[in-house]
Amino acid sequence: MIINLEVEDRNGETQTVELPTEVNLNLMEALKASGYNILATCGGMALCATCHVQVLKGLDQLPAAQNEELDMLDTLPDAGFDSRLACQLKVNESLDGIKVKIRGDEH
Ligand code: FES
Repeated sequence: MIINLEVEDRNGETQTVELPTEVNLNLMEALKASGYNILATCGGMALCATCHVQVLKGLDQLPAAQNEELDMLDTLPDAGFDSRLACQLKVNESLDGIKVKIRGDEH
């Protein structure tokens, strides 16, 4: 299945991104593959928070964050109730129609 989500980059520009669900990527990997600059220093282990995104639309439809993700988000001064780590979100139908804003550090 192909899902669509809206992605707002650090410059405030929004684009619709189409992602296939069959490849079994997480959202951090999929955004990188789509050309977004995300450091992902920890490689998707919920340890670096450079894949921090703010969910502007569709927060309720996402699977709940696990403890490692919540612990890491707790360390971020700019995290809010709508913050998630993109590496902890599987690309599947739960992401269809959501909107995320890329927040993690670029450097
Ligand atoms: S890639 Fe490091 S926390 Fe997501």
